[in-house]
Amino acid sequence: MPLWYGGDYNPEQWPEEVWAEDVALMRRAGVTLVTVGVFAWSLLEPSEGRHTFGWLDRVLDLLADGGIRVDLAVPTASPPPWFSLAHPDALTVTRDGVRLTHGSRDTYCVSAPAYRAASLRITRALGERYRDHPALAMWHVHNEYGTPCHCDHAAAAFRTWLRERYGGLDALNDAWTTAFWGQHYSDWAQITPPRATQYLPNPAQALDFRRFVSDEMLAHFREQRDLLRELTPEVPVTTNYVLAGWASIDHWKWSREVDLVAVDHYPSGRGTAAAEQTAFAADLARSWADGRPWLLMEQATGYVTGPRMTAKEPGEIARHSLQHVARGAKGVMFFQWRASLGGAEQWHPGMVPHTGPDSRVFREVCALGEALKRIPPDEPADEPLVEAEVAILWDEEAWWAVQAPGLPSAELDCLAAVEQAHRVLWRQGVTTCFAHPSHDLSAYRAVLVPSLYLISDEAARDLGTYVRGGGTLVVSFFSGIADEHTRIRPGGYPGALREILGVRVEEFRPLADAVTLTDFGVATAWSEVVHLDGAEAVARYPGGGPAVTRRRLGEGMAWYVSTRLGDSGYAGVLARAGLAGSGAPGVEIVRRRDRVFALNHTQDEQPVPVHGTDLISGEPVTGVLNPGQCVVVRAT
Ligand code: GLA
Repeated sequence: MPLWYGGDYNPEQWPEEVWAEDVALMRRAGVTLVTVGVFAWSLLEPSEGRHTFGWLDRVLDLLADGGIRVDLAVPTASPPPWFSLAHPDALTVTRDGVRLTHGSRDTYCVSAPAYRAASLRITRALGERYRDHPALAMWHVHNEYGTPCHCDHAAAAFRTWLRERYGGLDALNDAWTTAFWGQHYSDWAQITPPRATQYLPNPAQALDFRRFVSDEMLAHFREQRDLLRELTPEVPVTTNYVLAGWASIDHWKWSREVDLVAVDHYPSGRGTAAAEQTAFAADLARSWADGRPWLLMEQATGYVTGPRMTAKEPGEIARHSLQHVARGAKGVMFFQWRASLGGAEQWHPGMVPHTGPDSRVFREVCALGEALKRIPPDEPADEPLVEAEVAILWDEEAWWAVQAPGLPSAELDCLAAVEQAHRVLWRQGVTTCFAHPSHDLSAYRAVLVPSLYLISDEAARDLGTYVRGGGTLVVSFFSGIADEHTRIRPGGYPGALREILGVRVEEFRPLADAVTLTDFGVATAWSEVVHLDGAEAVARYPGGGPAVTRRRLGEGMAWYVSTRLGDSGYAGVLARAGLAGSGAPGVEIVRRRDRVFALNHTQDEQPVPVHGTDLISGEPVTGVLNPGQCVVVRAT
């Protein structure tokens, strides 16, 4: 199947006479798939149980006539105002106890019975109405799940979840260390979500609540998905994940439940930093999809995060899109088709900007549509879409735990450490993927463990087996410290990984000022008192204590980095560990099965080991890329 191309289409924001022009412009741009109706619940069900599908019928018919398929949204992310007024108990309550009101979006409690019932009602109504519509290609359930609620419904559901997890209160009291600050629970009814507290909250309770929020939303997604599967067994059901710093769901778990992994990605960096973040997002998505194709559900034609919404530079819209395709996307979609004239996101760029189709952005959108058509579909094959020799461990639970207050340094940042590991290898042209600590890692040449605070006994044991079997393991500080209940492993850090690494860390010494190591340059934020216990020192702190160590274990090597290095220092460690790549910074070369994507993110001409005929332009590729140029050739 050719690559999908399109975006969120919100025709309800426009008079009907614009719709025909939309379809004509979509055809001009090569659009093949649009997501319709993500926030249209109040227009589809203007009062309880009364449905007004006429406008959506006309939109879908128009799209079908134009040969454009629809990723039909189930609009349950934003209940209508009548619903919120009738069921105030279904409105989100923040941890401070503030009950939010409608007037924005995503204001619901997924545990509220009225919300669950109304959500399933609109899901069924849409399923029954459009099950046979020729435009229907996919179901897009909800939007960016993730609004936590702290109300009494959520509290009751949390208690049920905890009973299943722990069986009895003794186990819960033990796991949460409730003996501290006299929090011992003697009745389930005493347990609440982690609402506003006088001082620090209980970290195990906070982490379990995040797990619960993800599971509770997943339980409701499953209900919606199963209902749709019953009505349309052939139509895939997906939902779009939000990336970056706001992830409220456990994407590894969710990815086993969706028919297609779909992600939204909005880089916060600009230029090369945006390209690095794009590769990171795409590798995460492919990893969640277990190496299979996934969908870029949303991106923007401009930069939308940060203090300024700036245009993407000429060529960047296509280059970012091709990065996603190179790394396994089966389609490239945008938020949104036409830039809105009013409403909260009226300044968000669209594929058709406020200026209209006579614009640079729309011309680039059309050129991208043409380019995507020329990239042939994947041949069916057993091998993975993209080969990666290096895996980076990523576990959202460990990340959530490091977001708690009360840690030894407010500068600990698990996501930043994971991003650095990816970025450093991306700059050298080493293709990486992400893995959960419970995954089988034996196929990877190296595994990087950047600040994985929580780790289970089993995962730690498996890492040891991996190294003994010949793997290279590079662990960074603040890993292996705690068990899955955030309880610290005694006897010296890094707890569960101490033996594998051959070190015993006696003390943490967070740094106020940078220090310079004997090798690998400047270190910031963090340092440790490391004792060698089988490992050798590779770099030392100014006082002489080991800072970077390595230990031969069985056939493999286990490295430990006990401080925060800069990118070049971390790259130096990886190089010593045999992980240097041969790529040039800003030049991205990725092989997707039998196609090689070569993308020049720099402003200069760049030599590349790529030859053949560019499938996009039909021009020969002779080992050089022009500034900003992207080519796709058949692998030889
Ligand atoms: C998210 C949402 C969209 C829109 C975009 C704006 O990804 O899913 O509805 O708000 O952000 O960037």
